[in-house]
Amino acid sequence: MTWDERYQAYLGLIEPALSGAFGASRGFEFDGLLDAMDYSLTAGGKRIRPVLVLEFARLNGLEPEKALPVACAVEMLHTYSLIHDDLPCMDNDDLRRGKPTNHKVFGESTAVLAGDALQAEAFGAILRSGLPAEARARCAEILAGAAGVDGICGGQFMDLAAEGHALTAEELSALQARKTGALLAGACMLGAAAALADGAAVELAGRYGSELGAAFQIRDDMLDVTSTEAELGKPIGSDKRESKSTFMSLYGEEKCARMVERITASACESVAGMDADGFLTELAKRLAARRK
Ligand code: IPE
Ligand code: IPE
Ligand code: MG
Ligand code: MG
Ligand code: MG
Repeated sequence: MTWDERYQAYLGLIEPALSGAFGASRGFEFDGLLDAMDYSLTAGGKRIRPVLVLEFARLNGLEPEKALPVACAVEMLHTYSLIHDDLPCMDNDDLRRGKPTNHKVFGESTAVLAGDALQAEAFGAILRSGLPAEARARCAEILAGAAGVDGICGGQFMDLAAEGHALTAEELSALQARKTGALLAGACMLGAAAALADGAAVELAGRYGSELGAAFQIRDDMLDVTSTEAELGKPIGSDKRESKSTFMSLYGEEKCARMVERITASACESVAGMDADGFLTELAKRLAARRK
């Protein structure tokens, strides 16, 4: 199986599962909330995090189909973080995944609730997954860690508190590790934990994911300056407009490019012993060169 075939096969599992999650109208008075959740969850996106769950499950001996609810969970949580990230009180952006942002279509209060509900439903998906109780408990703990104070919420708080200030390299790395790195690391760890892999295997998954996440956010900050709205599917120049401290503002484009290259090589090295058919290595390389 080629790299593209494997990625497509994973998408073939992920996309229908996400479309089925909240897509069917239930005829209740809260259909409007389900519509808002479904709108952002099915708006597209690269689906990197659920793909990582399925691949780490496979590498640790669990059929990807069995890890699918956990893969959907991480994409629900990620989508919640994007809906809230775009709100006027946060980054105040109008475009996401090539479509108007959730609050532009459904209003701010519904967008807040759609994000809240997606976060809760992510944990529900893990707990209803049919995996052994120990796997479900470990997965829920990993996702909670990636979402909370030491993860997205802590990182987003730091990101907003830093608006208008120049952060040091250490501060920016600490922010990034929470805001973006924690969920990418968490996705890799979730796949391993769903397969009931031992502590060392889960830790290795986390190391690869953290490095992938570090390179990913540097590339994201670069694209906010160098890409186009049409290609990226989200606004360009948002970081500068909101006076964010980013890897681009701190280091400039050339240094960022070198950092992405170095950190990607290190991510690939971490999994060299387990990535027999090279899927994780190729994924890291493609993300380092991504245009969207
Ligand atoms: C965007 O994540 C938010 C960041 C963590 C930088 P992605 O680039 O994975 O967004 P989608 O899921 O493909 O839309
Ligand atoms: C946010 O980072 C990452 C999240 C936790 C959602 P950004 O604010 O840079 O993400 P984009 O560029 O809007 O996708
Ligand atoms: Mg943001
Ligand atoms: Mg943003
Ligand atoms: Mg960004």
